[in-house]
Amino acid sequence: MIKINEHYKKLQASYLFSDIASRIADFQAANPETEIIRLGIGDATRALPPACIEAMHKAVDEMGRDDTFRGYGPEQGYEFLREKIAQHDYAARGTDISADEIFISDGAKCDTGNFQEILATNIRVAVPDPVYPVYVDTNVMAGRAGGFSGGKYENIIYMPSTKENNYVPQPPETGADLIYLCFPNNPTGATITKEELKRWVDYARDNKALILYDAAYEAFIRDKTIPRSIYEVEGAREVAVEFRSFSKTAGFTGTRCAFTVVPKDCRAFDETGGAAMLHSLWNRRHSTKFNGVAYPVQRAAEAIYTPEGQEQVKSIIAGYMENADIIRKQMEELGFSYAGGRHSPYIWVDAQTDSWELFDAVLKKAGVVCTPGAGFGPCGRRYIRLSAFNSRENVERAMQRIHKALQ
Ligand code: MLT
Repeated sequence: MIKINEHYKKLQASYLFSDIASRIADFQAANPETEIIRLGIGDATRALPPACIEAMHKAVDEMGRDDTFRGYGPEQGYEFLREKIAQHDYAARGTDISADEIFISDGAKCDTGNFQEILATNIRVAVPDPVYPVYVDTNVMAGRAGGFSGGKYENIIYMPSTKENNYVPQPPETGADLIYLCFPNNPTGATITKEELKRWVDYARDNKALILYDAAYEAFIRDKTIPRSIYEVEGAREVAVEFRSFSKTAGFTGTRCAFTVVPKDCRAFDETGGAAMLHSLWNRRHSTKFNGVAYPVQRAAEAIYTPEGQEQVKSIIAGYMENADIIRKQMEELGFSYAGGRHSPYIWVDAQTDSWELFDAVLKKAGVVCTPGAGFGPCGRRYIRLSAFNSRENVERAMQRIHKALQ
């Protein structure tokens, strides 16, 4: 008899963004005349940088000739891209990461979701609350979460990120083995200082724990003193894996390209307590289950690191951040307190009311989609998240409509 993975039954309904998409579809079917503006899922709306398009065209032409055609590439990614990342994102910022510690993939969602596979199932997992749902759901699937009650999984340690702690959780009292951190944070938009990050690195070192550090939004940081990588903290190489993505940085949400950094000295432990290196385990997993990102896509990603590419990406990000400023201003006018939007494309608004109710009200009265905070965890129940990923015009129209609907 074929049997299912019983842990899947513990998952809550559907994935947050699928749930929202189906509510929008129902609303649109009932109100075909309403033009909906989406400030929900953080999906890029601006075109790929011209430097990327040019590189991609060239690579497609190469694929069209026998003498330049490429079949399977290295599962870990082409050297040309890994070298550029090591040089520009790490060496140039004084962090020591080599090209062969970088694994190119098709998304930070997949990598943050998949990484737990190489770790034991009988470990304690700690997540911030609110949290990007992928971290929790993939641990539920793997059987680490236990039963669900009162909005929480029994075996997961939830670390509240609230106004009181500036949305930066403290290391838990109970020992956590696997810790997920994300800065700039999705959904709160909060950032972490180097001193606060050091506390986490020290905790992981003292407790033989591992940090999975999601830095998918680092490019939105506007203040040079805020760390863009966990490896800016001394001692992090042994205890942290970092995830980055070109999705939000350069509009690759539909094109798919990201990377994960696993330093060669990053360790976990086996049954006997002996150190086991995660680089070789992840390499084994990656080369068994993944066949690399398409060559033209990796060439497009490489073009981000040319001088023109860098300028173009900066201007795309600046455009989204101007949207974030418009959203923040409107939230202030409406008297809401909020976090984020300064070094992040997300604005986390304290609505002081049930987040799904506000989601429905904003959709019905203003035709604007936001993300209900409850979908990110119990601490998000009275919040909504607004995303700056849209055109200037749409963001301005959305703010006018929300102003009218909620004032
Ligand atoms: C979000 O809106 O939280 C993200 O776009 C989701 C994702 O990156 O998968």
